[in-house]
Amino acid sequence: MPDEITASRRANGCRQGTTFHADDGNVAAPNSAAKSGVLTFEVNGTSHKTSSNDLRARIDAELAALRENSQLRALDLPRGLNLCSNDYLGLASDPRLKQALLDAVFAASRIASTGSRLLSGNSRDWEEIESEFADFVSFDSALYFNSGYAANIGLLSSIAQPNDIIFSDALNHASLIDGIRLSHARKIIYPHRDMQFLENALHENASSPAAKIIVTESIFSMEGDIAPLENLANLTAAHHAFLIVDEAHALGVCGNEGCGLVAALPDRSRVLAAIYPCGKALASCGAFVAGSAALKEFLINHARSFIFSTANPPYIAHQIRAALALVRAAEDRRAHLREISLALRSALSAVGLHCGDGDTPIVPVILGSNESALRVAAELQSAGFAVKAIRPPTVPAGSARIRLSLTASISLDDVHRLTHMLSSAASSAHITSSASLAHA
Ligand SMILES: Cc1ncc(COP(=O)(O)O)c(C=O)c1O
Repeated sequence: MPDEITASRRANGCRQGTTFHADDGNVAAPNSAAKSGVLTFEVNGTSHKTSSNDLRARIDAELAALRENSQLRALDLPRGLNLCSNDYLGLASDPRLKQALLDAVFAASRIASTGSRLLSGNSRDWEEIESEFADFVSFDSALYFNSGYAANIGLLSSIAQPNDIIFSDALNHASLIDGIRLSHARKIIYPHRDMQFLENALHENASSPAAKIIVTESIFSMEGDIAPLENLANLTAAHHAFLIVDEAHALGVCGNEGCGLVAALPDRSRVLAAIYPCGKALASCGAFVAGSAALKEFLINHARSFIFSTANPPYIAHQIRAALALVRAAEDRRAHLREISLALRSALSAVGLHCGDGDTPIVPVILGSNESALRVAAELQSAGFAVKAIRPPTVPAGSARIRLSLTASISLDDVHRLTHMLSSAASSAHITSSASLAHA
């Protein structure tokens, strides 16, 4: 088995679709490119040449290539019914949460943390919310990072070493991919949710003395499907491996009181850590890494994104605490979210659109080409739906899509209007069910 197995690979936010070559067509080492003075680079199969040492020319050329491939990203303001947020429970505009934040700001002795947690930035607020959160998700301890991205790169880069092996789902989030890269561990990327492939890979490496770590999301952010967590837990136990699960899209949405999917696993003995970003259903920011007390102590000493970064302001701890109380009590919102998610999926299937295998509030409408996704997104936007076309390298080539993410503040009527618009936008873009399925 090769050291690195790349199944349909995704690199959210990275330039993984771009490779650089020297004039001779080999992948450019910096020196060979500098010698020849010309750099050829590819963006998803299209070849471009530019001067290797003129950074401005290189930037322009890369932007032109992205534009040519309908891959250029741009910032804009979401307008209309928001179908591209991760605010699953609709708490981001909840007046109770706003009030809790205002109260915390006024009660605070300082509104900035003033330093890293290891210097002046620690406070009782952070320590208390870490304990409360650990109890909520049934772990011994939790450590708060300033973002989910910081949590994932801090955890993975410190816990794994170059001789270890990380088995990573092909559709894992970019923050997990980047953390794995920073660890310099050997990586084996298994095709999305393919347990047979994973089991074979574990078998093939059975005699290796390396530490083995399986890394997955519980609900996948672009597919909206769920990892086979029980199988993964069983495989880790059978192969003396460890499991790390990113619960970004399950927190608040699934599990008892919204505690995610890991807490309910019958055997959690090999779960090393779970990551809980707070910027989604929790309508806050930052992320907890939950695990043992020893893991927390280890991260405080080794996770560079924790150590070398100014802590978030202490009032955020109060926002998270208030959000947690709302999330735990939000059973009706979770039920409504399930209802509209199922209604949307079945309505889209009925009009012949392919929306993956999941049953979560993340509903990917897979359209195939970048152009189709952009065209359909533009039509929906002009009809008052805030949606985004998601294109490679964020998703595998040929699976450009509209990623609909529902929130509990959306009504069944909204879902019906949306289905109607999507169906007519897709047919005016000549997208048939077989065309979208062929790319899925
Ligand atoms: C699965 C997953 N993990 C981690 C992150 C990063 O979290 P944050 O946005 O807090 O950096 C995200 C969000 O983009 C995500 O979808």
